Amino acid sequence: MSIFYHEQEGVFHLQSKDMSYVIQLANGYPAHVYWGKKLRSEGNLSGLLRFVERCSFIPNSVSMDKSISLDTLPQEYPQYGSGDFRNPAYQVQLKDGTRITELKYLTHRIMQGKPALAGLPAIYTEEGDDAQTLELELSDSYSGLSVILSYTVFGAFNVIARSTRFVHKGESPVKLIKALSASVDFQDADYEWLQLHGSHVRERQMDRKPLGHGGTIAESRRGSSSHQMNPFAALLRPNCDEDHGEVFGFSLVYSGNFAIQAEVDQFNTVRVSIGINPFDFSWNLNPGETFQTPEAIMVYSSEGLGGMSRTYHKLYRTRLCRGVHRELERPILVNNWEATYFNFNAEKIEAIAETAADLGIELFVLDDGWFGKRDSDNSSLGDWTVDLNKLPNGLENLVRRVNEKGLQFGLWFEPEMVSPDSELYRSHPDWCLHVPGRRRTEARDQLILDISRKDVRDYLFDALSRILSSSQISYVKWDMNRNMTEIGSAEADPGHQQETAHRYILGLYELLERLTSQFPEVLFESCSGGGGRFDPGMLYYMPQTWTSDNTDAVERLKIQYGTSIVYPISTMGAHVSAVPNHQVGRITPLTTRGDVAMSGNFGYEMDLTKFSEEEKAIVRKQVADYKEIRSLVQKGDFYRLRDPFVGKGNETAWMFVSENREEALVFYFQVLAVPNAPLQRLALKGLNPELDYQVEGLEESFGGDRLMQAGIHLPMFHHDYASKWWRVKAFTDINGMGEA
Ligand code: DGJ
Repeated sequence: MSIFYHEQEGVFHLQSKDMSYVIQLANGYPAHVYWGKKLRSEGNLSGLLRFVERCSFIPNSVSMDKSISLDTLPQEYPQYGSGDFRNPAYQVQLKDGTRITELKYLTHRIMQGKPALAGLPAIYTEEGDDAQTLELELSDSYSGLSVILSYTVFGAFNVIARSTRFVHKGESPVKLIKALSASVDFQDADYEWLQLHGSHVRERQMDRKPLGHGGTIAESRRGSSSHQMNPFAALLRPNCDEDHGEVFGFSLVYSGNFAIQAEVDQFNTVRVSIGINPFDFSWNLNPGETFQTPEAIMVYSSEGLGGMSRTYHKLYRTRLCRGVHRELERPILVNNWEATYFNFNAEKIEAIAETAADLGIELFVLDDGWFGKRDSDNSSLGDWTVDLNKLPNGLENLVRRVNEKGLQFGLWFEPEMVSPDSELYRSHPDWCLHVPGRRRTEARDQLILDISRKDVRDYLFDALSRILSSSQISYVKWDMNRNMTEIGSAEADPGHQQETAHRYILGLYELLERLTSQFPEVLFESCSGGGGRFDPGMLYYMPQTWTSDNTDAVERLKIQYGTSIVYPISTMGAHVSAVPNHQVGRITPLTTRGDVAMSGNFGYEMDLTKFSEEEKAIVRKQVADYKEIRSLVQKGDFYRLRDPFVGKGNETAWMFVSENREEALVFYFQVLAVPNAPLQRLALKGLNPELDYQVEGLEESFGGDRLMQAGIHLPMFHHDYASKWWRVKAFTDINGMGEA
């Protein structure tokens, strides 16, 4: 059993693998007592809360007891208006216009497993999993509003999954104006803050900084989780590095506007709050109705950032991603986007596919431009019928011919969008997000379909289903290329307009659920101008994401390194592209481009027919190598060895280790050659110190201890943009049983 309730003290002790999380009821308020390394279940934890009487500027929340104030009590789900001046977890407006509620403990339930979240993606459990859920029900007796805080802990992960459900049991409608997923009050503020910021073609750059007094926030107001800020943040002890020290990670399973905020108060405590961004959000709750927040996945690591990342990786790879492709090795693909852009015809596509098949590539993906009359990005989104000018024999014929070459076929869609120059827009001008009488702001000449509407979702489901059932389509790239403006829905009445952004995301999830259940064999890859929606919400429906539109090998080192902070390698699309690179103009060797891309879900994004024989030989080897190593890349434990965000970022290194620690792959990258370079060794991680290993290309065998303490010699490169990787394999002949 992993959740213990000590009734006398009102203490809930939740244990995950090596971690404890403790809540105590203090005068009916759920107080946050502890989160960190595992504590013994039988120990007395009730003395951890300390009550001190303070000055008149700290209000008394319990009459007759001046030591209890909501302004100083560490809480699980703080409210606004009755004494706590810190960031509240929720705000409600009652029918009479007042905004005061007082949530107090009503009851609780402890259950095996983990209930699903209605309409939202979430971590799930499978039969045999050791997981328990605590639901704490709080209630405001005046309004009749109940708030159910849900906590799931896992025997296999140092994780606590939190979400909140509002159930209106009162008699008059209320309006939620803020409804976060979780809030945690830390006892002290001796932490640094890590967030992943960025931009289009520069996603998930690491940003680590000290926490000062007041607020620090990672958020999106773009209607989507965004390139600019990922829905993730962590508190790190200042001494924390990749391998040591405490980290508390916060990741939101949501693809829309989010906010993760840390607030350091006057007594040097930190409150971390996470959930849907309250900015431009409200939700009407009528009697009998329920509002479910997204899920926050909170990870504890005492083994540094690397420990935190490996927990997120395994959890998201095995208990967030779903479907047959969760366990299957991902195909090596070639995508025609950077090869042709809009300028292709059936012959060109077949020629690329022919070469791809010859090189051992497994999947051909036809990107943007195959439908309507889309010869540039200014038309046809929404008209999902094949362009017979480009593909005169139709899509079915092309798919068959590509299949006959031995390749699977994949297709690009951008379902959520509509071009003003499209049949769809001409017939349904009110189907896009818009505000009557206002400009409809375009981006990339497109508007956003209002998929909060069921009729719009039905149209998209039918349009996509028709194409996916028409031929043997094995893969879908689901793109989304702009952010929301003029957020309004023609279907919503004035009182519900502010719900539109969230209703859009709920609509997206519903549509994805329908389509992915209808086509369970299809591998879906999500994309938003590259990694503009690389978030756990999308991964629930589509187990991989196009990491970035930036395919330059050097830029990709940072992007993939930053992405790996939270997201499993099996979720990251990484392709070799042409040089000079289309985003930054850099010329890097084909081998280095290959080594960077082989560190993710491997593929090519270039005109393969232009390869010389020498280049083809390199590519053939890359493809063959990747087939041998991909299971380890996609499912192995990932260790970061050299950080491109440190110093001048000249070096990056990472490795993949099998679960039994008998096999590993080590990748090293050096951006600029160093003249007369110092000799360097690279210390490995994650191996078994007791085992002996063979490192590819080196004659002697090495103890795991030596490889991890002393390392391997790094080559001295005499050119820029260099890379090398090694296979590492254990000898298991210690007992005379032969090589592993
Ligand atoms: C943005 C994507 O990230 C690209 O890979 C490509 O699919 C284009 N859209 C097509 O318009």
